[in-house]
Amino acid sequence: MSEPSTKICCIGAGYVGGPTMAMIAKQCPDIEVNVVDINESRIAAWNSDLLPIYEPGLDEVVKEARGRNLFFSTDVSAAIKSADMIFISVNTPTKTFGIGTGRAANLEFVEKCAREIALHADGHKIVIEKSTLPVRTAEAVKRILSSASNENATFDVLSNPEFLAEGTAVEDLLAPDRVLIGGESQEAIDRLAAVYGRWVNPENILKTNLWSSELSKLTANAFLAQRVSSINAISALCEATGADVDEVANAIGTDSRIGPKFLKSSVGFGGSCFQKDILNLVYLCEHFGLPEVAAYWEQVVLMNDYQKRRFSTAVVKTMFNTVSDKKIAIWGFAFKKDTNDTRESPAIYVCRDLLEERARLTIYDPKVSLEQVKQELVYLMTSENGTLSEKHRQLIDENVEVADSASAATTGAHAIAVLTEWDEFKDIDFHSVYSSMKKPAFLFDGRNLLDREKLSKIGFEVYATGKS
Ligand code: UDX
Ligand code: ADP
Repeated sequence: MSEPSTKICCIGAGYVGGPTMAMIAKQCPDIEVNVVDINESRIAAWNSDLLPIYEPGLDEVVKEARGRNLFFSTDVSAAIKSADMIFISVNTPTKTFGIGTGRAANLEFVEKCAREIALHADGHKIVIEKSTLPVRTAEAVKRILSSASNENATFDVLSNPEFLAEGTAVEDLLAPDRVLIGGESQEAIDRLAAVYGRWVNPENILKTNLWSSELSKLTANAFLAQRVSSINAISALCEATGADVDEVANAIGTDSRIGPKFLKSSVGFGGSCFQKDILNLVYLCEHFGLPEVAAYWEQVVLMNDYQKRRFSTAVVKTMFNTVSDKKIAIWGFAFKKDTNDTRESPAIYVCRDLLEERARLTIYDPKVSLEQVKQELVYLMTSENGTLSEKHRQLIDENVEVADSASAATTGAHAIAVLTEWDEFKDIDFHSVYSSMKKPAFLFDGRNLLDREKLSKIGFEVYATGKS
């Protein structure tokens, strides 16, 4: 059992910090959990009826605990002072400048947190890295903490990476395959294990050294992403040979040594973790003088770039080599279903390619706004050249709009591109969609979500990833 005095602070109220702390607060009503963030509007949203992130089941968990033992605030220093366990759940994006640009993780936010903790800490604190970090970051965190202004302040640093996947965060937190805790102090490890032990079977709480824990998180994501890139590589071969990628995936997935998960061919993987973590791993390998290992893992990301580009190329080629001034309905913009997260979504890349071909895009995603779409496109197009050209700005302003339903997006369209596997796309009245479109009506299924045969019978010209 955890000690009754346990009081938790979590710095960073994002996709990881928010749901994780909500679950801890729900399961441990006697532990006060303060989630703090410098982003005022995000905290205001956590305190409102419209949470800043969409995650099935999350509203209920937050409602149960909020105001009881779960609090959201911008007062970072007060939360640090009163807590005895402090989670660092801030963002660690890929660096966009300087040494390691495009690969290394930007640890600026983690370092700022550590400095903030050092400044306000009094007494003993357990500092827990929740964000995904390069191996040996804990070393830097420890050194910064050791410069604490208050000489009564002492620290233990633990690594406790989050394995939840977006869209299933609540389920994943409720019944995790495992909880991983890495550290040097057995007492600190046991105290954190006792918190999870309230609802997680002790056998599923793995205790390791700090570096194994940090590296396991990167490795887990690299292995998962590698599977998606492997099946996507095979999808190209399927299209060339007449094999069907779903049949191949099913055939190999029944081999218990391989297993069925993460074998769904797609327009490419996205999300805040996979690409970032693999590039981070690549950078680490280079840093430690292992260029062959770096090249091996980098290929997983290059394969993903190829898959996204392959999809947009297929759209242009199939539509008589031009999409200029053609309206294309984009179904789904989030990086996968059941989330409003668009970070690194393959949809951003496909839309960029189609805009460069001068297509007019009408986007429908049940959880993504026009503002978010434009922000992502501006970000991608800017990061490529350092500046946003006038031409790109104009394309984003004039050729991108959103619709408020999937069928509304298709009126007068030459094509539909399915980029996120939202369930609602399966229940569309495709007869009326077909009649509202220009002919030939093309449908590009980047998620192998829809029934190709049925659509072809209606009259659609269907392209699906990994199907010839
Ligand atoms: C991932 C890890 O799964 C999670 O454990 C880690 O903590 C964070 O990173 P997440 O990014 O939320 O989670 O999504 P995930 O479900 O892993 O999917 C990542 C991407 O791969 C998505 O774009 C998804 O559409 C794609 N994918 C996944 C496929 O294309 N095919 C598959 O079979 C599985
Ligand atoms: P993740 O998906 O890893 O949770 P997010 O970007 O969704 O990443 O969330 C990270 C959060 O951390 C953001 O809301 C950001 O404002 C917050 N954050 C970053 N740096 C600090 C800091 N020094 N103090 C408090 N909050 C921070």
